[in-house]
Amino acid sequence: MLRGARLISTAVAAVLLVFSSTWLLTRPHPRVVAGDPTLTSGDAGRGRLVFAAGDCASCHASPGQPDRFRLGGDLALASPYGIFRVPNISPDPEAGIGSWSVADLANALISGVSPSGQHYYPAFPYASYTGMTLGDIRDLYAFLHTLSPVPERAQPHQISPLFRIRRFVGFWKLLFFREGRSGGAENGDPVHDRGAYLVETLGHCAECHSSRNIFGAIKPKTRFAGGVSSEDVGFNPNITPIGIGSWSEQDLVEMLRSGMTPGHGYVGWVMADVVENTAELPEVDRMAIARYVKSLPPRPTPHP
Ligand code: HEC
Ligand code: HEC
Repeated sequence: MLRGARLISTAVAAVLLVFSSTWLLTRPHPRVVAGDPTLTSGDAGRGRLVFAAGDCASCHASPGQPDRFRLGGDLALASPYGIFRVPNISPDPEAGIGSWSVADLANALISGVSPSGQHYYPAFPYASYTGMTLGDIRDLYAFLHTLSPVPERAQPHQISPLFRIRRFVGFWKLLFFREGRSGGAENGDPVHDRGAYLVETLGHCAECHSSRNIFGAIKPKTRFAGGVSSEDVGFNPNITPIGIGSWSEQDLVEMLRSGMTPGHGYVGWVMADVVENTAELPEVDRMAIARYVKSLPPRPTPHP
């Protein structure tokens, strides 16, 4: 009798311990203090280039209209977990992020945490943006505030009920997210190192050009080696030397400026959107991207 009671209380204690440590481990950790007075708005002109390099418009511009600066969101992103609806990030205080501070934007991009302290889904590629400098985020903030407010709210995500519990993203982060580290390594050559930042962090090129595991995280061995598109409508090419070994740095610079490839005409589809942005960058940044991409180790193309 006594033994049974002790067993039950041990079991209850174990469950409570697992529950509370899980709760602690999956807690959102915003990097920046909400009211940090040093985090003032930056330079909107430079922020425009951060916005281009980050390819924010490809997801956040309202679909079905030509203005890439109308950031009403609502684009549907299909995924194995359901459909994500990209939010409105225009400066509208109600429907968008007009009431946010620079710290709020920094915590979204670096930590994947919202102003109300909830995890974002990694469909928002913060696993790459996490390496962004605070200087770039301040400039981006200033630029976003020059755009027109869009008063319409984006629709809510249509994902399965289990995934609606944002706290579960904490497990994903424990396994796959390294705050402040976007991947890649610097080698001391300033052109290469600028390229590493543009490719790994801002340009989040690996998010498309890699394969993912069942949790939707990039498999390291396939990084840049290509993979099925997240919407399952094609195969994103291998951009390591196995795929584009015959391209010169100059070929890459040309593609990033005009979309023209050395072999087969022009890149299309979502890569054409990427090129709309890389075309806006200064030539030195395209050269930096090219130098870094050419330095990637060869990795075999994974089987879809
Ligand atoms: C691949 C598509 C994609 C790209 C590229 C992208 N985002 Fe997002 N973003 C999303 C999705 C999806 C969400 C919603 C995440 C969620 O609900 O958890 C989001 C959420 C956000 C939020 C939070 C909005 C809110 O209302 O809480 C901000 C801010 C944001 N993105 C800014 C940016 C900026 C700035 C860039 C460019 C540097 C960018 N995003 C690039 C898809 C994208
Ligand atoms: C939103 C997904 C996405 C992102 C982000 C993206 N790409 Fe691509 N990329 C593609 C797709 C899809 C293609 C194939 C386009 C085609 O076949 O017309 C492609 C094609 C390419 C090619 C041509 C490969 C070949 O064999 O023809 C290169 C090089 C390339 N991307 C480099 C980059 C770089 C560098 C970045 C980051 C600055 C980047 N991509 C970001 C999806 C993406």
